Amino acid sequence: MLRPDLAPMPEQRVAELLCVSPKAELHVHIEGTLEPELIFALARRNGVTLPYADVESLRRAYAFTDLQSFLDLYYAGCDVLRTEQDFFDLAWAYFQRAAQDHVVRVEPFFDPQSHMARGVGFEVFMPAFIQAARRAQDELGLSVGWIVSVLRHLPEEDALQTLEAAETWLDHLIGIGLDSSERGNPPEKFARVFARARQLGLHAVAHAGEEGPPAYVRGALDVLHVERIDHGVRASEDPALMQRLAREQVPLTVCPLSNVRLCVVSDLAEHNLPQLLDAGLKVTVNSDDPAYFGGYVNDNLTQLFAAQPALGAPQAYALLRNSLEASFAADGDKALWIAQLDARWHAAGSAG
Ligand code: ADE
Ligand code: ZN
Repeated sequence: MLRPDLAPMPEQRVAELLCVSPKAELHVHIEGTLEPELIFALARRNGVTLPYADVESLRRAYAFTDLQSFLDLYYAGCDVLRTEQDFFDLAWAYFQRAAQDHVVRVEPFFDPQSHMARGVGFEVFMPAFIQAARRAQDELGLSVGWIVSVLRHLPEEDALQTLEAAETWLDHLIGIGLDSSERGNPPEKFARVFARARQLGLHAVAHAGEEGPPAYVRGALDVLHVERIDHGVRASEDPALMQRLAREQVPLTVCPLSNVRLCVVSDLAEHNLPQLLDAGLKVTVNSDDPAYFGGYVNDNLTQLFAAQPALGAPQAYALLRNSLEASFAADGDKALWIAQLDARWHAAGSAG
């Protein structure tokens, strides 16, 4: 929602408000928050030998040419995650970092299959995720809803087995997601998994229109019946789809720094987020895999606004509010956070 009543504001004030306002992070892979320093610490703890001499040489390898070149490194990085303590340390480090960005609600993905393939099951990572989420709520006031995500490069049968394993932990999950290599793996491949997940009462989201065509966004909506689209930036190639997304107010969880690092767009100045917002779509800004893409949610917001002069106070307010509205949190919580957001903006407006 754009607020036309917002008085013009200096760029610096908008940047400050972006940072200090309450917001929801709706597209972050917990494995993508694994910082190089933690990779090395966990490798040491678990006796894993890494093919990099130090943190700096690992960071230098983060020069991606497309989604697959990133995924290869991302799955390799997961190998240091072995014990419940490792998963707790990962999640707790991320929650503390998110709270610094004034994130009040986070709905992180986790990829069970990338751990189960290494003999690490739900009984290892779920207790860690649950405990970290509890601590985040108690100590940081950060609300957490976990999304179990299935890997689209693997067969649907694998995803069905993953969902079956997840059922024991249903009370601690809010949704199902679909990620990994998009091209050649259309949403339709996972129709049965998503039907079962929806039967179980899970919310449904899917990555679509990141590298894949607009048809994958349609497939996610029509066949998987998702409530949000993760990325979705390629929808702008299809005017009829754009009209539908605007009419149905389907939230898009857009990740600007990710799109640049994975060469989906050439640079932030060229990102089509302003066009998506202008067309009336319910856009949110998120970080995807912040340890790999050079920034958490506030970095994504501030760097995008610095690169795009067309973005100002109305767009900033809209993105923040959309994030809260598009979350799967309880209506009462959302209303409270939106009131806090409005109080922040009201105070800023009346101060100057
Ligand atoms: N897994 C982690 N990050 C992803 C992305 N940006 N796209 C698809 N799968 C992912
Ligand atoms: Zn993602």
